[in-house]
Amino acid sequence: MKASVFVGTSLDGFIARIDGSLDFLPPGGGEPHGYDEFMATVDALVIGRNTYETVLGFDAWPYAQKPVFVLSTRPLAKPPSGAVVEHIQGTPAYVVSLLEKRGVQHIYVDGGITIQAFLEAGLVQHLTITRVPVLIGTGIPLFGATTRDIPLKHIATRQYASGLVQSEYEVGV
Ligand SMILES: NC(=O)c1ccc[n+]([C@@H]2O[C@H](COP(=O)([O-])OP(=O)(O)OC[C@H]3O[C@@H](n4cnc5c(N)ncnc54)[C@H](OP(=O)(O)O)[C@@H]3O)[C@@H](O)[C@H]2O)c1
Repeated sequence: MKASVFVGTSLDGFIARIDGSLDFLPPGGGEPHGYDEFMATVDALVIGRNTYETVLGFDAWPYAQKPVFVLSTRPLAKPPSGAVVEHIQGTPAYVVSLLEKRGVQHIYVDGGITIQAFLEAGLVQHLTITRVPVLIGTGIPLFGATTRDIPLKHIATRQYASGLVQSEYEVGV
């Protein structure tokens, strides 16, 4: 099974403000930069509880009928009707083995703590990071401490007229 990350960050590497707000990201996702095309390749999402709670506050559920596995050690708020949400907990290795048994072939891993745990476990193969041209100084970081270096192979960097700069990497090669 393949696991990918597709995330937007401030230039200084934050995915959200400390209070979870995303107001520094361009509204509506901004200039098209491959999100829809990426989503079309994904069978399921694995997101952390904090990301789930942020998404619950959106005007509309953004994942349509795609299965969303929410990692949390605590009970979850009810999903909106029509959303396909399953509460799971366990290590990234456990999550991957569970989803493999269900026939899932490509997951989208999202949420800072969750991405960091999957990276640390060596269970992310592909990163797409879109940097927004703003410094916010403080916030929830995309990356954190690691117990070892995680080598990346640069695949491509694209620039967009609105100032987005997107870099794609393979992990562990
Ligand atoms: N800019 C972007 O593209 C982007 C993308 C995604 C998210 N975000 C933002 O980032 C923020 C959330 O990121 P975050 O770093 O705070 O965390 P997160 O990864 O969304 O959620 C972390 C939580 O998930 C649960 N969790 C993670 N791994 C687990 C495991 N193996 N087993 C059980 N539970 C597990 C824990 O919740 P419990 O304490 O409940 O156990 C943990 O506190 C939100 O504001 C969101 O909007 C931004």
